[in-house]
This record gives sequence, C-alpha cells and structure tokens, in this order.
Amino acid sequence: MQSLRYVGKNLFLEKISLKNFLKKNKSPFYIYSENQIIYNFIKFKNIFKKTDPLICFAAKSNSNVQILKVLSKLGAGVDVVSGGELLKALKAGIKPKKIVFSGVGKTEEELQVAINKNILLINCESESEALLVNNIGKRLKKHVSIGFRLNPNIDAKTHKKISTGKAENKFGLSIKSFKSFLKKINSLKNVRLNALSVHIGSQILSETPFKRTLGVMQKLIMELKLNLNFVDFGGGFGIDYSGKDKTLNLTNYSKLVEKFAKKINCKIIFEPGRSIIGNAGILISKVQFIKRGSKKSFIILDAGMNDFMRPALYDAFHKIIPISKTSSRMTGAIEFVGPICESTCKFGVYKKYQKLNENDYIAITNVGAYGSSLSSNYNTRPLIAEILINKNKYRYIRKKQNILKLINS
Ligand code: LLP
Repeated sequence: MQSLRYVGKNLFLEKISLKNFLKKNKSPFYIYSENQIIYNFIKFKNIFKKTDPLICFAAKSNSNVQILKVLSKLGAGVDVVSGGELLKALKAGIKPKKIVFSGVGKTEEELQVAINKNILLINCESESEALLVNNIGKRLKKHVSIGFRLNPNIDAKTHKKISTGKAENKFGLSIKSFKSFLKKINSLKNVRLNALSVHIGSQILSETPFKRTLGVMQKLIMELKLNLNFVDFGGGFGIDYSGKDKTLNLTNYSKLVEKFAKKINCKIIFEPGRSIIGNAGILISKVQFIKRGSKKSFIILDAGMNDFMRPALYDAFHKIIPISKTSSRMTGAIEFVGPICESTCKFGVYKKYQKLNENDYIAITNVGAYGSSLSSNYNTRPLIAEILINKNKYRYIRKKQNILKLINS
C-alpha cells in the first residue's frame, strides 16, 4: 500500500490533494496517513500470526496520543521509555497490562508510577535498577513484574549512532553480569523475573542480526533453565528510505520466532516503532527564499532542524518531493536548508531538480518515525502542528505550539 502518491501532477496523501489542503492550512506541519499506519500494523501482525506476539509500539518513534489511540484500537500495546510516555499511553487508553517500560535511567518517580499502575513489565537494565524496583515494591506492598534487558554483544550492522546491542553500548546487562545477578534475585522478595528482553539497534535491514540474537537468547534460557512468561525481542525493523534500500524480509525470521516460542513456552513481545509509523508521515514545508550561491542554490524552507532532526543528527536521507510537479528544471545543484543558525540545518542536496519558486511547497518523506518526537524548541521556535488524514477527512492531532505560551512558560 502506498498512501502517498501523485495523481497527475499533484501529490496526494490518501484522498487529499496537498495542493488544495495548503490553501487553508499553514506550513510547516507533519501530516500522517491513518490507513498507512493501520496497514503497517496489520502487515507486521500477519507476518508473526502463528506466534501471536504482543506488539508494543515504541512510543519514542511517535508519541502523539491520537496515534497511540489508533494503534490501541488495533490491539497494540506500547513500549515506553519515560514517565511522560507512560502517561500518554494510559491517556490513549492502552491497558497497563500491555505496557512495557524500557530505558537505562528510569527515575524513582517514574518507576513508582509504573509500579502503581501495575504495568506488564519493567525491563530493568542494571542491577541497581532492579534493587530500586524491589525497594519501591516493598514500600508500596507490591510484587513487581520485571524483565531484564540483555546486551548480547551483537553488531546490528546499522548506523553507529543507533546501534544498541554491542558490549560498548550502555544498554542492557552483559550475559556474565546477568548470570551473577541471577544468584541474588531470589533474595529480592518484591520482584518477579518474568521476562528477558533485547533490542540491538534500529533501522536494521538484514535478518542476520535478529537471527543471531534469537540464537543467543535461546541458548541462555535453556542453559539457565529459566521459566519465563515473556521474551521481548524489541524493535529495530528497518524501512526503505531511498526507494532502493534492500528491504527486510521477516518471513524466515518469523518461522524461527515461532519455533522459539514453542520451545521456550513463552509469549513473545515485539517493540516496533519505525516499521509501523515511518512511511506514514511527511513534513510539508514552504520554500521561503531561493538564494543562488557560487557553488549551488539554496532552497530555504520554513521548516528547520528543530522540527526535523534526522538529517542533522544521523546524516539521514529523506527524499524531498514537490507538492506539484512541473516539467521545467532548475540549473545546477541545489540544497534544501532550514532557517536555523547551524550549518547542519539542511535536509538534502540534489544535482538536478524541477523548477521551484518561492512560496512553492515540498514534502520531506518518511518522517513519521523520529520526526516530531525528536523535535525541539531550539531557536525558540514553537513545535509545529500534526495532522492525521483518513481518506478525505483530516483532523489536527496537535496544534502548533502557541508562541506566547512558549515564551512565558
Ligand atoms: N525498543 C527499544 C528498547 C528501543 O530502544 C527502540 C528504539 C525501539 C524499541 C524501537 O526501535 P524501531 O523499531 O523504531 O527501530 N532516533 C533514531 C532511532 C533511535 C531508536 C532508539 N530505540 C532515528 O531517528 O533513527
């Protein structure tokens, strides 16, 4: 399914012509296709149908409450990494028994809320965290269901800034430390080890690291004869940003997961983010000015790196496409940049591009994941609006932040 497409010369998202939409709605804004999200979720669910995992959407990829609600209606759970995300998940109607809490530095306050709400799992990432959870549990007179995140020391073969499963990364506990911690766990009366979890990185485009991780987990669980209710394999499933990337085929992996679940006799959890929401969103921006430099022309947009960080942070490629196509060309190379006073505030360079004029609009594609959720108020710029489309209907799911509130808060 492709909810973003040209009809004639004009770009449509679902059944809405963005050219017409822009007559009434002011840029820049994020706009998402609800049906693309639904399609992506169902596709993922179907691949793993035989295992019937609990799919906990990674809220960090996009934590808009209305988007969490769409997923909640499909039966999704949520993976949260902060007290704020936890409250958003609850507000979206996600049942506590479908919420898992990950992260290396959860605070006492955050843990207390999670424990009080009786969420499914707190995935601990250190011995100290498990001790803290136990103490809070004792104080609140609760038995807390925890998981332990392991660091399997596996190279996910992805961008180094989004790799999390190698020994040099801060995430999870090494297998050695986990084994020594196991000896103490029985003395912790207010926690119960219900799960093991792993998450080796993001935007992974090869099945091999996933398969290797599964192998490591199986060996460990068998060796230690662990009796677990859940094994949480995290997220990380890559998407095709360029239109030429090798796409990830999860069918073989799903067969291994099925065998694993039978052998270990546990429920599987996944925490996909990008693969559910990544291709469902675009960022619409206006060409503010065009400036001809000696080496290239700069297309200066009204969206900045504060609105969309991925190119500045990871040199990420996101195709930029016009809202209305024309056949005339611009001469020479062009660079799409934003207004922020940083050289990294740029979105892409093209050797050739169709003719653009000031006040034309473009769409930065595949920004549904880690777009809005990574945005900031840098340069005292208000957070931009978010809009959700379903067929020919749309609704604002976040208004543009009020500048006066921003200044006075
Ligand atoms: N579970 C855990 C514990 C995670 O840390 C993450 C992502 C996920 C699940 C979801 O991973 P996904 O399925 O979305 O790959 N800002 C970066 C990505 C950082 C990912 C952090 N962890 C980017 O824009 O590429």
